[in-house]
Amino acid sequence: MVKKYYIKTFGCQMNVYDSQRIAAILRNLGYEEASSVRNADLVILNTCHIREKAAEKVFSDLGRINLIKQERAEEGKDTIIGVVGCVVQAEDKEISKRAPFVDFATGPLTYHRLPEILAKVARKRGLSIIDTEFPAIAKFDFLPENKAEGGLAYLAVQEGCNNFCTYCVVPYTRGIEYSRPVAEVLKEARHLVETGSVEINLLGQNVNSYHGEDENGKERNLAYLLRRISEIDGLKRLRYTTSYPADVDDDLITCHRDLPKLMPYLHLPIQSGSDKILKAMNRRHNSSDYLKVVEKLQQANPNLRMSSDFIVGFPGETDEDFKATLDVVNKVKYIQAFSFKYSRRPGTPAAIMPNQVEEKVKKERLEILQDLLFSYQLKFNKECLGKIMPVLFETKGRHAGQLIGRTPYMQNLHAKLDKENLNKIINVKVTDVTTNSLSGEPV
Ligand code: 5AD
Ligand code: SF4
Repeated sequence: MVKKYYIKTFGCQMNVYDSQRIAAILRNLGYEEASSVRNADLVILNTCHIREKAAEKVFSDLGRINLIKQERAEEGKDTIIGVVGCVVQAEDKEISKRAPFVDFATGPLTYHRLPEILAKVARKRGLSIIDTEFPAIAKFDFLPENKAEGGLAYLAVQEGCNNFCTYCVVPYTRGIEYSRPVAEVLKEARHLVETGSVEINLLGQNVNSYHGEDENGKERNLAYLLRRISEIDGLKRLRYTTSYPADVDDDLITCHRDLPKLMPYLHLPIQSGSDKILKAMNRRHNSSDYLKVVEKLQQANPNLRMSSDFIVGFPGETDEDFKATLDVVNKVKYIQAFSFKYSRRPGTPAAIMPNQVEEKVKKERLEILQDLLFSYQLKFNKECLGKIMPVLFETKGRHAGQLIGRTPYMQNLHAKLDKENLNKIINVKVTDVTTNSLSGEPV
């Protein structure tokens, strides 16, 4: 009987990429995808450690999966449970303690060893294998070739982070910065387009600090990579996430002027509008540096619209600091944003800073910020009414005969279309909008 796998992914787009690579490894080993946990011989949780809530969710899910494992055991079926991703890197001991039934756990930089790990698990059940080493050799060298899974493809070009923002676990879970060589990235991009992708999103925790070596050993920046990739025939759209404001250089800004394939939407997290808080966060920008970068980018491409991440209630944040964040929002008028209450992460410097902000205050500030952000999001969506937009349709909608896709501005748009149109870019006239989505008619 063919063995089946089920992967559940938490967190960021990098985890989505990793899960796709893990699925490719498993398919090479002869596994097929299961429709649910209940039908799976191998269940993998790809986890996120960025905030406490995300990490806790993993433990509650593991409890539920263990119950299914026991039910399957009564039917004589074996289930292997594995945990991968950032929670493993940060909480390997917690996993052994709180979920001893887990068969293996491996960090975000070591999942390429999955074939060996699974072989070990098969030889001896009940043996918890935990692999959290930061390997010297890049996992990318060991992964199967990345093939298109649809119109949109993720391509990791950089991993890890050297910034050490004082609230963030990423430098500890994903390690220090690593940039993949130019040739390797180009090969993967070409293969993705040849196998059907029309949009590529270049990923990295700090993607604009990319400095991979070219064929002659010369270090190249993200702008170079964007130019080379946009030359690929058949590729229609290009994006990159996530960028660090202080690392946006003039070369990158020029790309927004010169490359028509580069979408007019950029995620550029500021985190806070208060210079005092930005300093305490160890960010290498203040609010005016950030606003200057946005201005230059929008001069290069006047259609460019911004999104950001925000943290409210960072230790020491006063009402005045919070107001400075609202001021930035009113200036940039983000068309989308992600905002979070500060979450204390063990081992990070901010977790032990004095003046932690009360939960009640964090909650109030988050509501105020989100109301403001949503108002700009709705305003922009309304400006799109009646416009014709090219939409890349990625998934089926809730209703029959409906597809959901993304506009150049990353808005979700649904339209009545049959499934032959999946993974294609189709011009749609926007007929209706809400804060979170658009609907339209193909033209
Ligand atoms: N608490 C709240 N939000 C956080 N982020 C990162 N660490 C924390 C934390 N400890 C947010 C930042 C980052 C996004 C991915 O998650 O805004 O940009
Ligand atoms: Fe975390 Fe800061 Fe690095 Fe982003 S730049 S991954 S927030 S440490």
